[in-house]
Amino acid sequence: MAEPRNRYSIVSLALHWLIAAAVVAQVLLIMAHENSEGPISREFVNIHKSVGLTILVLTLARIGWRVMNPAIRLPDEMKRWEKLLARATHVLFYVVLLALPLTGWAASSASGRMIEWFHLFQWPALPIEGGRPVARQLMDVHETVVKGLYVLLALHVIGALKHQFIDRDNVLHRMIPLIPRRP
Ligand code: HEM
Ligand code: HEM
Repeated sequence: MAEPRNRYSIVSLALHWLIAAAVVAQVLLIMAHENSEGPISREFVNIHKSVGLTILVLTLARIGWRVMNPAIRLPDEMKRWEKLLARATHVLFYVVLLALPLTGWAASSASGRMIEWFHLFQWPALPIEGGRPVARQLMDVHETVVKGLYVLLALHVIGALKHQFIDRDNVLHRMIPLIPRRP
């Protein structure tokens, strides 16, 4: 019988870190937008939209990959509630990584604003009417989901540090192979 897989594939690693970097960039782009004025400030939002829609595509690819290559086992030493919390955080990450781009995309569509994907082509609009009031409501959801993202991120990073420095297992090594493997 084949050994159960014990490492993430290069595709899983690449998608994890590409999406993580893009999410951090999203927050920095909004900060840059809030601290600037005029055309450059609007350009930061345009890049935010383009990066966000790219995250949507990457997340769909990642979920597809994940379905075909199920998660590797968490260490047997982990308690039941720890495994549950870890898996719940991961599933909710996927929900948030879909909800943020979809609400942003829907809001732009409702307000009739065209999205120029990195000024290369026009991203299609969703069939959503309602103008600014509907767009405002969708942006309220966007901002609420952002708060959920921050909670998940805090849980995730605290979890990763706990694995590395308290449990002293190989979970961080699995996602950052540059970190030496413990025997
Ligand atoms: C916005 C940033 C991030 C997002 C959205 C994110 C999302 C995720 C998701 C969804 C998984 C589950 C992978 C699967 O489906 O099996 C995962 C796994 C993991 N992440 Fe992140 N992550 C982020 C940042 C980080 C950071 C900064 C660290 C390190 C400090 C980290 C360390 C890990 C580790 C170690 C795992 C593997 C857990 C295991 O082996 O089962 N992640 N991440
Ligand atoms: C995973 C992808 C995304 C992340 C992580 C993200 C994150 C954020 C964050 C942190 C804010 C600031 C919220 C606040 O002020 O409380 C924001 C605002 C915003 N986002 Fe996103 N977003 C994403 C995708 C998108 C997409 C795809 C669009 C549109 C197509 C979009 C459009 C906007 C707009 C218009 C704002 C308000 C900017 C302003 O203050 O005028 N976002 N987003």
